Amino acid sequence: MADINLFPCDKKENPLQRFIWERHTNRTQFNKIPLAQKDLNQISKSLFSFPGTSVSLITKKEHINKIARLVYEVDRIRTERRDLHEHLMQMICFTDEVSRLKRNGFPIKNLEAGFGGELFLKFCRPWVMMNLINKTGMGKIIPYMASQGIRQASAVGLLKINGNSIKNFIVGGQALERLWLTCTRLGLSFQPMTAVTLFRHRWEIGLKNDFSLAHQQILGKIWPLYEYLFEINSNESHIMLFRLGYGGKVSCRTLRKDIKINML
Ligand SMILES: Cc1cc2nc3c(=O)[nH]c(=O)nc-3n(C[C@H](O)[C@H](O)[C@H](O)COP(=O)(O)O)c2cc1C
Repeated sequence: MADINLFPCDKKENPLQRFIWERHTNRTQFNKIPLAQKDLNQISKSLFSFPGTSVSLITKKEHINKIARLVYEVDRIRTERRDLHEHLMQMICFTDEVSRLKRNGFPIKNLEAGFGGELFLKFCRPWVMMNLINKTGMGKIIPYMASQGIRQASAVGLLKINGNSIKNFIVGGQALERLWLTCTRLGLSFQPMTAVTLFRHRWEIGLKNDFSLAHQQILGKIWPLYEYLFEINSNESHIMLFRLGYGGKVSCRTLRKDIKINML
């Protein structure tokens, strides 16, 4: 809950302002059309007023495929952890009623999983079922879908910021909003894929033992490639990994909390 007071003033409208309501996550299939250089430049330029931030935009097919493999491994870890599985399931609204009541998280249709995918998600909602599915090897379908999402992208980006203070992360979040709105303005589809960045952050703040030994081994092997592909400097924090491209129209948008405006 936040109170925001609005006052009339003679400031001009920011060109990104009208895209605030249009911005959304797009998890549909993307169609691999290459991004125009001028769009890539606009995306990098959107960070100009946020010193210390930068974005690595990967467009080479060969590198995107390597990132897809990396995302596959990381998403496998996510599906094999009870805490992360249950966290994701809590965010999904399995019925319209729950969705309207909660007005946060995401309606199941927003995941663009299709009829079969939705059945699968409902079936593996309790951890005991997901765990069983993991043991049969069928759980790999989830990381496979995530990696396919990367393969279909025109670009994969990593937004970074120098430093790791709370203030750096707040500025990183502001920069992310500008970058995402710029992509919306350019007509690009955008999907955050943050398991990688969240795992990396945990690793960097000395919490690698939060991962099982098997998962530490997987992550330990992944990091050198991740650092190489995204040209990581040791003093940088990682705000968000995302895929960009040209997707379809989303089946269903997430709801917004009601807002009450008081004009002073
Ligand atoms: C910090 C952050 C991390 C996110 N991570 C993911 C992710 O890993 N995968 C994904 O599909 N969406 C991810 N999202 C997208 C959110 O699910 C989405 O923004 C939220 O449900 C609201 O929907 P909207 O973006 O369509 O308005 C992330 C969003 C934020 C802000």
